[in-house]
Amino acid sequence: MVVGAIKTLIIGSNGMLGSDLCKVFPYAVKLTHKNLDITNRTRVINCIQEIRPDVVINAAAYTNVDGCEDNKELAFQVNGYGPGYIAEACTKVGASLVHFSTDYVFEGSKKEYVESEIPNPINVYGHSKLLGEKKIIENMNDYRIVRISWLFGIHGKNFVETMLKLSGEMDNVKVVNDQFGKPTYTMDLASKVKEIIELEPGIYHITNDGICSWYEFASSIIDNVVPCTSEEFQRKAKRPKYSVLVNTKTEPMRHWKEALKAYLKERNI
Ligand SMILES: NC(=O)c1ccc[n+]([C@@H]2O[C@H](COP(=O)([O-])OP(=O)(O)OC[C@H]3O[C@@H](n4cnc5c(N)ncnc54)[C@H](OP(=O)(O)O)[C@@H]3O)[C@@H](O)[C@H]2O)c1
Repeated sequence: MVVGAIKTLIIGSNGMLGSDLCKVFPYAVKLTHKNLDITNRTRVINCIQEIRPDVVINAAAYTNVDGCEDNKELAFQVNGYGPGYIAEACTKVGASLVHFSTDYVFEGSKKEYVESEIPNPINVYGHSKLLGEKKIIENMNDYRIVRISWLFGIHGKNFVETMLKLSGEMDNVKVVNDQFGKPTYTMDLASKVKEIIELEPGIYHITNDGICSWYEFASSIIDNVVPCTSEEFQRKAKRPKYSVLVNTKTEPMRHWKEALKAYLKERNI
């Protein structure tokens, strides 16, 4: 399929990833939360039937991991049932779907997770995102579920910005050194989606290359960072210790350190 010749719809177009997807797919039809609430099944189906896209890219989600613990119902509506409605609508119009899921569908007791690994989430966000995967698989065949992790991009709140802000406000910034993952630049990921659309339906693990702890990631951004444990830095939602996604299906993307350099350059323009 020639991407330029197909009609693409981006849902969640003004989120952090959604905004970069809009740069990569400038001719796509773009829908923000205001234009379409994905928890409204009738609206989702009518809207997709009116637009009749060839490809739908869903970047809409309820992404506040701690917030999901307090707002369980909303988390399951947006992250679980919403993607199911989108899938149902895609089937009706014969569209394929690219949807984003998360490393947090895994419990994090293993060091690495390949695409075929059985998920076992340990927090509400992870459970709600896993329900989204299941609802898509139940409702359509032509899907690409792309599990991603530790996103940073210029159009959203992200770890890099938090570190830069805290570094100016505190003598020392404490960051956990016992949770490991793969930081991923939204611009790299958005560009990779062009390739994913062309691949076989299924589940993909897409991240920048290289593994680090949050502390190691922070040390590449600021100087006044000190390591601590997850015990010392309690959060409402439990986090997996190792949420390292392994990509066995596509070419790896560049190392997160190179991607971080590109991000820092982009934000300073
Ligand atoms: N950020 C990460 O580190 C990370 C890690 C792994 C996976 N992911 C996944 O990557 C995808 C993109 O994440 P992101 O960081 O770009 O998220 P984000 O910046 O929070 O963007 C999410 C977008 O979804 C919209 N939205 C929320 N509820 C909606 C609803 N009911 N109907 C329609 N739109 C709704 C939001 O609009 P409003 O703000 O106006 O509500 C926002 O524009 C998500 O699927 C997320 O689960 C993210």
